[in-house]
Amino acid sequence: MDRFSGKTAVVTGGNSGIGLAIANRLRQEGAEVVISGRNRVSLDAAARELGVRAIEADVSRMDDLDRFYATLADTVGKIDLLYANAGIFEAKPLAEVTEAFFDRQFVINVKGLFFTVQKALPHLRDGAVVVLTSSMIHDAGWPGCSVYAAGKAAVRSMARSFSADLLARRIRVNALTPGVTATPILDWPGMSESERAAGLEALRARIPVGRLASPDEIAEAALFLGSAASAYMIGGELRLDGGMTEL
Ligand SMILES: NC(=O)c1ccc[n+]([C@@H]2O[C@H](COP(=O)([O-])OP(=O)(O)OC[C@H]3O[C@@H](n4cnc5c(N)ncnc54)[C@H](OP(=O)(O)O)[C@@H]3O)[C@@H](O)[C@H]2O)c1
Repeated sequence: MDRFSGKTAVVTGGNSGIGLAIANRLRQEGAEVVISGRNRVSLDAAARELGVRAIEADVSRMDDLDRFYATLADTVGKIDLLYANAGIFEAKPLAEVTEAFFDRQFVINVKGLFFTVQKALPHLRDGAVVVLTSSMIHDAGWPGCSVYAAGKAAVRSMARSFSADLLARRIRVNALTPGVTATPILDWPGMSESERAAGLEALRARIPVGRLASPDEIAEAALFLGSAASAYMIGGELRLDGGMTEL
């Protein structure tokens, strides 16, 4: 299938995990793909492996975003699909959250995503599609996750408001809402291998389907959101969480 031939797609955080899987599937289905991230080594590796363009850009730095979109305008022109996917996850109990901890996640997951979309506006084609990566945690109460969950609730909310602001340009914005997905974001720093294995097992045990999601199955949903098949969906969210929210 070549659902995306002739389309230009941008995936932030396209050098790892869910973003890498989205970039890979878009490329396989004919899109010209540009990925971004901060890590030059994994950007280069993804560019080689997938045959995509890779641009180093930190979404939390406004000058990086300006340079990113200027480079895109000079190289690939208008954007048909924007996946604002870059994000980080850190956990701490409420009593231990510091201002720096709070700011680090909000500046990337909320402010960075907001301006990833806002600064893209002059470069998006009318009728383009924007997909924001939220998380199922945005409407759950998990210990240690207050900052991350609040940020992802903000992302969910932005899918609604952005869609309202962009109606006249027929730009659809939806949220992609994964559950626990096996990606490097779960390589929690400071944990031993056995602590990490125990943490993952505790998570797995809470998932009704009995396993973590794979980045590829989340990417399939992301491609649905980016395709004409979801043309009637706007300001909404597509949740893939193995039953964690509903069961
Ligand atoms: N895995 C899960 O269980 C899960 C569940 C729900 C939602 N999500 C969301 O899914 C998205 C992708 O996460 P993932 O699971 O695929 O994790 P991942 O493998 O760690 O990927 C995160 C990506 O975001 C990029 N990134 C982080 N900070 C950035 C910044 N300041 N500027 C530019 N790029 C940045 C990283 O690139 P660099 O390393 O180069 O910075 C990386 O490519 C995130 O928004 C995450 O919150 C994940």
